[in-house]
Amino acid sequence: MRKLLVTGGAGFIGSNFVHHVIEHTDDHVTVLDKLTYAGNRASLDGLPGDRFAFVEGDIADAILVDSLFVEADAVVHYAAESHNDNSLNDPRPFLDTNIVGTYTLLEAARKHGTRLHHISTDEVYGDLELDDPERFTENTPYNPSSPYSSTKAGSDLLVRAWVRSFGVQATISNCSNNYGPYQHVEKFIPRQITNVIRGIRPRLYGKGENVRDWIHAEDHSSAVLTILDKGVIGETYLIGADGEKNNKSVVELILELMGQDAEAYDHVTDRAGHDLRYAIDSTKLRTELGWEPQYRDFDAGLAATIDWYRANELWWSADKDGVEAFYASKGQ
Ligand code: NAD
Ligand code: DAU
Repeated sequence: MRKLLVTGGAGFIGSNFVHHVIEHTDDHVTVLDKLTYAGNRASLDGLPGDRFAFVEGDIADAILVDSLFVEADAVVHYAAESHNDNSLNDPRPFLDTNIVGTYTLLEAARKHGTRLHHISTDEVYGDLELDDPERFTENTPYNPSSPYSSTKAGSDLLVRAWVRSFGVQATISNCSNNYGPYQHVEKFIPRQITNVIRGIRPRLYGKGENVRDWIHAEDHSSAVLTILDKGVIGETYLIGADGEKNNKSVVELILELMGQDAEAYDHVTDRAGHDLRYAIDSTKLRTELGWEPQYRDFDAGLAATIDWYRANELWWSADKDGVEAFYASKGQ
């Protein structure tokens, strides 16, 4: 039985990955998570006690990290401060977790010779024009826009340097925007779904022309497992499922799927430095490692996500008022 250490496993994508691993493999999973405002222990409820353990702690705690690496066969590193809007408000935690935290894990991987997979984002590449025929590839130059994406870019560069200089056994993946269950209500899709449930009009930044390349969290999980099993050490793999949509069309679809007038939303203050468009070319992952996304029907995936938020109001309701108060203070 392989022993996996998953950092950030109480967050959105990390918890989806832990459920995926328990369902699709024989691996044992230990989650290391600080349970920040974004971590929710309840996202890991119901996992079998003989296959799963939870450790509350900080990835920047070198002593704790060292003790967990002693036991791990491989580490999948999801833990991060992940929200662009928060990084514009207070960048410091992004430096502490995304840079110093990743450095701490790399030093432990170096000491113990542990296989590490680093989870990153397409935002490290900056943004594209709406009519640009090119999409991001593994060769696109780094050009991050926000404090969040610049710390993720920094963490990727640390991983590359530790591979080259110290022979650390690491791979990197850069994925596009995820949707699905267990996503915090600060993020775009859950915010609008829970707004409609609460009788609040959805909020669209600026004109809503910005494009995101949506992928279901379940497809992200299967891609990460594929890279963990078959990826070449030192390589970077882009993960995407050809899901480009502009924000306006996503809000309108949410309203339609929830039985509302598709025009019943408000335009609010735009995000500072707002990236215009992300688009992923995942040819390398598909051709070299044989991965394919399974959740190709965005409307069906979004409808299932809406059902999940309707059925799990207790999971998100405690966070909702604080998130809306934060956005209101910024005119969003
Ligand atoms: P999230 O904010 O939902 O979860 C982050 C988790 O990390 C939380 O459980 C939090 O408690 C934990 N954490 C934060 N700081 C920590 C620390 N110092 N020590 C230990 N745990 C800590 O984030 P997410 O959306 O699930 O993103 C997970 C990873 O995937 C991040 O690295 C992010 O950059 C990357 N990513 C996210 C997306 C997306 O669409 N959400 C897309 C591509 C890549
Ligand atoms: O591309 C991958 C990235 O996707 C990840 O690295 C990040 O961790 C993740 O948060 C996400 O970043 P975005 O900034 O794209 O996601 P967010 O959900 O914050 O916003 C998606 C789009 O919706 C973006 O163009 C901003 C817009 N938006 C967001 C909110 C919260 C709105 O129009 N209204 C809103 O209320």
